[in-house]
Amino acid sequence: MKNNNSKAKFHMTEETSIKHTEKVKAAFTDHDWYLSGYEANIRIRSEVVARFAKGESPKTVADLGCGDGSLSISFLEQGAAVTFLDISAAMLKIVSTKLSLDLRQRATFINSDFFNANLPQESFDLAIFVGVLAYIDNLDEAAAQLRRIVRPGGKLILEYTDASHVMARLNFAYRTLASRFRTPKCHTFRHKRRDINSAFMNAGFIPLQSYRYIYTLPVVLRSISQERRYHWIRAVFGSVDEPHRQWFGSEDLTIYQA
Ligand SMILES: C[S@@+](CC[C@H](N)C(=O)[O-])C[C@H]1O[C@@H](n2cnc3c(N)ncnc32)[C@H](O)[C@@H]1O
Repeated sequence: MKNNNSKAKFHMTEETSIKHTEKVKAAFTDHDWYLSGYEANIRIRSEVVARFAKGESPKTVADLGCGDGSLSISFLEQGAAVTFLDISAAMLKIVSTKLSLDLRQRATFINSDFFNANLPQESFDLAIFVGVLAYIDNLDEAAAQLRRIVRPGGKLILEYTDASHVMARLNFAYRTLASRFRTPKCHTFRHKRRDINSAFMNAGFIPLQSYRYIYTLPVVLRSISQERRYHWIRAVFGSVDEPHRQWFGSEDLTIYQA
């Protein structure tokens, strides 16, 4: 069943779905815009994932839409078996080049669309799905697939931008305006916190803890360095252990239990 959570303007037929997937793949094949433009964001995500997983000691981890592996290589270093899955072969190549021969023995690489990967049922202690929902139309299907592969009692760490948040709405308005002059790399879907929570809870996930912050800055501030941006976010929003102003965060990282 298709849900109606995404903007009605972009209807996914089989044909547009294939085109969308190809565009996402192309956007993350030529990935410098992401790895350099979102360095501070990746750093914060990595730290929050590590903090959420502290004390969990997962033996099997799936990083789905893994990007350059920044969020999950540490689990390999701690002795877990990690499955790195990404639709972009270029991203997986970056992960692979970061690993020693020893670590590579516990790594599995899957170059696939998450929905077609057919991962084994209830096989992961921890699934990481960070920064991927924006490229996915159907929340219910994503939640059900994730629930299928996480073992009962296992954890899911999910990240998304709350489309109902005022800062996200301003950013979307800016992007819509900018798209008149510059074609976006690919379409992104706008999901609201309320819809995401209900899709994941309906699938059987229980939210345990969240950390929220803002990454998008007003246009005039966008030229600040990634280092300063990182420190600015930490100063305003604190950390998982000492969070501040969480009500004002549009970027949401939540750990769920299956
Ligand atoms: C914004 S990046 C996030 C990367 C990483 N999780 C992080 O937080 O740094 C999104 C990643 O998801 C991948 N991706 C998007 N849609 C996907 C899909 N349907 N199946 C598998 N990977 C996907 C992209 O290729 C990209 O590497």
